[in-house]
Amino acid sequence: MKRRGQIFAVLMGVLMISGCSSEALQGEQFREERYGGMHQNMMKGQMNHQMQGHMDHDNVTRLEDSTGTNELLIPPLLERDENGEVTYTVTAQKGETSIFKDAKTETYGYNGDFLGPVLRLNKGEHVKIRTVNELDEETTFHWHGLEVAGHADGGPHAPLKPGESKTIELDVAQEASMLWFHPHPEGKTAEQVYKGLAGLLYIEDGQSEKLGLPNVYGKNDIPLIFQDRLFDENKQLNYEMLMNEDGTIGDMSLINGTLNPKLSVRKEKVRLRLLNGSNARNYTFKLNNGGTFTQIATDGGLLNEPITLNEISLTPSERAEIIVDFSNVDPSDQLALVNEDGSTLLPFHVVGDEGEESNIPAQLNDVTLTEEEKNLPVTKEVELFGMMEHVTINGKKFDPNRIDFTQKQGETEVWEIYNKPDMMGGMIHPFHIHGTQFKIVSRDGKAPSENERGWKDSISIKPGEKVNIAVQFKHKGVYMFHCHILEHEDNGMMGQIKVE
Ligand code: C2O
Ligand code: CU
Ligand code: CU
Repeated sequence: MKRRGQIFAVLMGVLMISGCSSEALQGEQFREERYGGMHQNMMKGQMNHQMQGHMDHDNVTRLEDSTGTNELLIPPLLERDENGEVTYTVTAQKGETSIFKDAKTETYGYNGDFLGPVLRLNKGEHVKIRTVNELDEETTFHWHGLEVAGHADGGPHAPLKPGESKTIELDVAQEASMLWFHPHPEGKTAEQVYKGLAGLLYIEDGQSEKLGLPNVYGKNDIPLIFQDRLFDENKQLNYEMLMNEDGTIGDMSLINGTLNPKLSVRKEKVRLRLLNGSNARNYTFKLNNGGTFTQIATDGGLLNEPITLNEISLTPSERAEIIVDFSNVDPSDQLALVNEDGSTLLPFHVVGDEGEESNIPAQLNDVTLTEEEKNLPVTKEVELFGMMEHVTINGKKFDPNRIDFTQKQGETEVWEIYNKPDMMGGMIHPFHIHGTQFKIVSRDGKAPSENERGWKDSISIKPGEKVNIAVQFKHKGVYMFHCHILEHEDNGMMGQIKVE
């Protein structure tokens, strides 16, 4: 019943907007204007559903094409601290960023004005990270994808007040991968990420370097953090005004914080490490000439074998590493990375020079789903349901004082994640578990696609879909599991597991 009311409210909004001019809209009105297109699209989707039995929730605001005027910013590699025992210092701070030529945007960043540097950790080392909060509000430091003890995981139970700092310690035991870090304060994650708190965490293991893959940071090994943003009329990230309960979707595409980026490459194989760092938008990446590329890694490590693809989809917080071969690409080809809706995300500027020799070996890793894991019974059921602020897991909203599940350290259990459709069809929920890299056992009873047969910490779950995953925790503690549409997470689509 409540949902009918919402549809009605949205419909009324659309009707009202269509009658007013787009000039000089302010505040609420401005927000309504910017969202008009999306609401209309959603309405179309909802009407489709009534008629065709499914809801097309992906029909969201198209991203503006990148004009390619700015060279892509490459996040700096964070230097290790010189003295003492702390390896790295990470400070959350406020800043100002020239995203647009003619304005300064108020932003948040780690050790800088916007986004963060790359932290590089080596498998086998003991690391201390000093985290510092220089914001005017509480924050936490969460290491997404890192297998770390609960007390160092930086979930909502570990807030740092303004001015506080805390040093965490961990042993790096997982394989080469690109993870990331972001804040996780209760109810405020979406806003803090939106303003710019997100950074990358690379794990190196000495093994993967021997494979001969493109590996020169910033040259033929490029991180790409994809984020969509809405800016207000003053070119500010006015989250309170622009936010959407169902996930804030923007019309401007930023990559590594760069608006209208282009990437200059040489004639060589280039490894692109993709992170969907958006609050809610799903991407399907393609090359504008329909050409193929090679996926070599998932969220938590290399795939066993390289997989040839001509598109790859990532829901919020998912990562993939792909290799695009520019050896025979000509500048006049105007090759670009595009999104499913055809919008140009990243034009490539191919310069004449030949680059490094690199190759893609046929065997990259050895991660397999064992017979035992395939045959384990389902012992945890997770039901994702709802939209807008009415999102739940197993019918409940997040309660920091409630433990939803327990699991034994080092024991593998199969979790079945079910996205329960509602009367309007439903939407994709990206499901994430803290403190572990898991394997997909099956999607609706079938083996996962080849490019999902690797370590994962976030997975997309379509409406009506059931995904079974084999989950093991290496450490003890309390961990979150949640939908990684950040507004859903903040609205309580999150539970807790205690590993003991
Ligand atoms: Cu990206 Cu709860 O995390
Ligand atoms: Cu996480
Ligand atoms: Cu969700």
